[in-house]
Amino acid sequence: MNLSIQLAPKNKHGLLLANPVMTASGTFGYGTEYSHMFDIQKLGAIVCKGTTLEPRDGNPQPRLAETACGLLNSIGLQNIGVKAVITEKAPLWASWRVPVIVNIAGETIEEYAQLAGELDGVAGISGIEVNISCPNVKAGGAEFGANPDSAAAATASVRAATSLPVLVKLTPNTGDIAKIAMAVAEAGADAISLINTLKGIAIDIAKRRPLLGNITGGLSGPAIKPVALYMVYEVAKAVEVPVVGCGGITTASDAIEFIMAGASAIQVGTASFANPRAPLDVLEGIEQFMEKEGIKDLAELIGVARR
Ligand SMILES: Cc1cc2nc3c(=O)[nH]c(=O)nc-3n(C[C@H](O)[C@H](O)[C@H](O)COP(=O)(O)O)c2cc1C
Repeated sequence: MNLSIQLAPKNKHGLLLANPVMTASGTFGYGTEYSHMFDIQKLGAIVCKGTTLEPRDGNPQPRLAETACGLLNSIGLQNIGVKAVITEKAPLWASWRVPVIVNIAGETIEEYAQLAGELDGVAGISGIEVNISCPNVKAGGAEFGANPDSAAAATASVRAATSLPVLVKLTPNTGDIAKIAMAVAEAGADAISLINTLKGIAIDIAKRRPLLGNITGGLSGPAIKPVALYMVYEVAKAVEVPVVGCGGITTASDAIEFIMAGASAIQVGTASFANPRAPLDVLEGIEQFMEKEGIKDLAELIGVARR
């Protein structure tokens, strides 16, 4: 069976995954944290925690709240900063079979470009995933990904700063996600990942106050799966570049739904908190499904629900 997938067919380096199962940024650390739980080298790719120019402590506690079938988080991009990623993490990644993609976050276009430039050519880094769910400080705090112009500008700045494969990760907190996806593809994205978390809030009724220290948070987990699936379906229809589906994927059937909707690869996020082996379980389940259905190549499944 062939489960491999090329996520950056037009890029000179390419981004060849042995299989379509990736980890979602912020839910799998730097990969090392999970390496004693199962053989992480079996995965298609690992996406590391969102990385900023400087290290960040993140938002005030509490930063997590469970919801019905989901999780609200307001971590606030706590991370070690790009320099530590390059000096402390990348040398280890360079010895891995599984490709590692660095997720980046900036508050200005210039920050995105600088991050991409610093990561360019670093051994052990196979691609960049651009998180455009961050507030654009120069444009009054609206998310970069909330409109086609700022989404395209962030993408173009990264594209110009690196020859690495560039995945752009869309936010669901917008009106027309297909329009944003088209703008991002036009601006040079090799692939598009979606979705990031949906904005949400929880109230502590004993304290009569918002539960999260940051007041608002991002909703993830099974609760958002139908929304994510819909957005993948719409975006895969609108763009030629590969689409990576993410949002509530917990089982192999969830993953297969995303692939049938048009995703070339998928990411497992919140599911890893309850079951650290979830990405491997999903991969094994996809293999079993293909065997049972007599499917020789994963490509036969991509987008079949749309034909
Ligand atoms: C605790 C936590 C931290 C996250 N951190 C990031 C991040 O740093 N960058 C990013 O692009 N997405 C981040 N995400 C979003 C996930 O990568 C994913 O897009 C989202 O959770 C939906 O997938 P899921 O339902 O499978 O978790 C985070 C999600 C969670 C739950």
